[in-house]
Amino acid sequence: RPGPSIWRRAASVVLVRLLLLRRSPSQSFLPQAHVFPGGVLDAADSSADWRRLFEPHHGPPRFGLSPASPPRAAFPAPPGDGPDATGSDSAALPDDVALRICAIREAFEEAGVLLQGPEPCCALAPLPDLDAWRARVRSDARHFLHLCAHLDCTPDIWALHDWSAWLTPFWKARAVDTAFFLCCLREPPAACPDMAEVVDCQWLSPSEATESFLSEEIWLAPPQFYEIRRLENFASLSDLHKFCLDHASEGRERWLPIMLLTTDGTLHLLPGDELYLEDSDHLENNLSTEKKIEDIMKEGKKFHRVVIHDRHLYSVHVTIQPKCKHVYPKTYVARKSQM
Ligand SMILES: *[C@@H]1O[C@H](CO)[C@@H](O)[C@H](O)[C@H]1NC(C)=O
Repeated sequence: RPGPSIWRRAASVVLVRLLLLRRSPSQSFLPQAHVFPGGVLDAADSSADWRRLFEPHHGPPRFGLSPASPPRAAFPAPPGDGPDATGSDSAALPDDVALRICAIREAFEEAGVLLQGPEPCCALAPLPDLDAWRARVRSDARHFLHLCAHLDCTPDIWALHDWSAWLTPFWKARAVDTAFFLCCLREPPAACPDMAEVVDCQWLSPSEATESFLSEEIWLAPPQFYEIRRLENFASLSDLHKFCLDHASEGRERWLPIMLLTTDGTLHLLPGDELYLEDSDHLENNLSTEKKIEDIMKEGKKFHRVVIHDRHLYSVHVTIQPKCKHVYPKTYVARKSQM
């Protein structure tokens, strides 16, 4: 029976205005889905060699990041809660620095977007030999440090704000524990797909992304859909940015959705929902019922769920109060007939 330690650590960055990448059809995990830039943590992301680049600007170990609060509401607790998971290598960077480097590296590899510091607000210089560097970094993540040294910059870890974290259950191709960071960009830089992992890049607003999903131009997995709906709480980019700065030290929640299969769709249940069960059985198994979605919705009151009616029709139901002073999406019910 798999233990929690088989979760692979990963990081993603929600670049707002929203950058969505279409995954290649040949990818085993979420083929063709539109996702935020991100990927699995590499040992190079926590390498002690980064200190050389960061230390002229900020002292170790956190290089000026505000103190970390451990993620809350983790069920079950994956590795890395509490002290850093890197454990034995005391020179390695702390997890939340390494995960930020990972997300920034992936945004560069997948979309050619380089979030570089150490000056705040993301100086985004166009890179003359971009393709050559991307190929190098893709073949070996250690080249990302070489690129930053070459440009005399650091990854802009300070522009990435703790946002959320999602776990996938073990029956997915690979169980991953993904930290989602949020980064606000006033001027969306040029993004171009690597044509390997991703085949298209688009900058969209949250409502444009929702519409493209409903009109079947793009497909989103439920966590991405949830996060996009969550962004709809903010009237402007500066409101969102202000929220991130004000909530920097509140920490974030980490969720494992549980699936309830009904006769006419699937419910992704999130912590706080009255049907959510904290039972390790659901790491590997779904719940199922002979009822219809409508009946289940009529019976309940305390909702924190994404309802999958069909491949391009999701609704979000939230009647609980957010934790960690975060915001949850507003209830959102789309109907195909309204399109
Ligand atoms: C759980 O449900 C999902 C979505 O319908 C399905 O893809 C997956 O294979 C199911 N997992 C198990 C273990 O039955």
